[in-house]
Amino acid sequence: MTQLREVKKWIRGQMTSDGAGVSLRRLIASQELDMLDPFLLFDAFGSSNPDDYIAGFPPHPHRGFETVTYMLAGKMRHEDSAGNAGVIETGGVQWMTAGRGIIHSEKPEQEEGLLAGFQLWVNLPAGQKMMAPRYQEKAAEDIAEEKREGGLQIRVVAGQTRQGTKGVIDNSFVDPLYFVINAPVGSVFEDNVPAGHNAFVYVAKGRVQIGDKATAVPENGLAVLTDGDSVSIKAEADSVYIVVAGKPINEPVERAGPFVMNTRAELEQAFDDYRNGRFA
Ligand code: CO
Repeated sequence: MTQLREVKKWIRGQMTSDGAGVSLRRLIASQELDMLDPFLLFDAFGSSNPDDYIAGFPPHPHRGFETVTYMLAGKMRHEDSAGNAGVIETGGVQWMTAGRGIIHSEKPEQEEGLLAGFQLWVNLPAGQKMMAPRYQEKAAEDIAEEKREGGLQIRVVAGQTRQGTKGVIDNSFVDPLYFVINAPVGSVFEDNVPAGHNAFVYVAKGRVQIGDKATAVPENGLAVLTDGDSVSIKAEADSVYIVVAGKPINEPVERAGPFVMNTRAELEQAFDDYRNGRFA
């Protein structure tokens, strides 16, 4: 029995700035949508004005969750306090499990004037919040791409498609699904999304219709989906969108800036550890 997911609501987010004045559109962790368990934050950034991005994000800590950066265009250089460094290039992903804590910097690098991408924060269950940090960094060519009728191209970052294409990211905590889809006008993407997972669609470019009700979601819109076990998304224009889903953790969330824990006391401990140099 299939149950198609519909649009519960869609939002435009808020333009904001972060780091050293990086301008971006914040969709989750906004006034319209505080969180979508297990997703704590979702930002879309994109500009052809290099001045928007020159400084990037100077060194800052994270504890208690994962940050996922996917580059649609351009490059992002990162470095951390444990000596890890690299560049996420166009079509690449970095799934960083901050666990008990890292201090890192993220500095966009322009490429032919274009820079665009997403940052998603994924919560960790209480039992994993203090795990050792780990990185899963994958270049564009490491990410399986499925081609379908109508010119659809599905890049499978995490999860698995109906046809069996597997994501390159391993995460057993929330069993995530993360597809990046290039959809020519008229194409229809249909696939499974595990029932019970919270799920959203973000339209980076174009315009789509979602579900049996064909709810239209425009460029820069993020649609929160109802529960169900499958999605159907029709491109009303040449579109680029992502489909993201994860198993809710259903635990208390206490957050302040770059730390996300279960209790106030754990948050205070995080600040104390950071101030006293107890991060990696
Ligand atoms: Co960061």
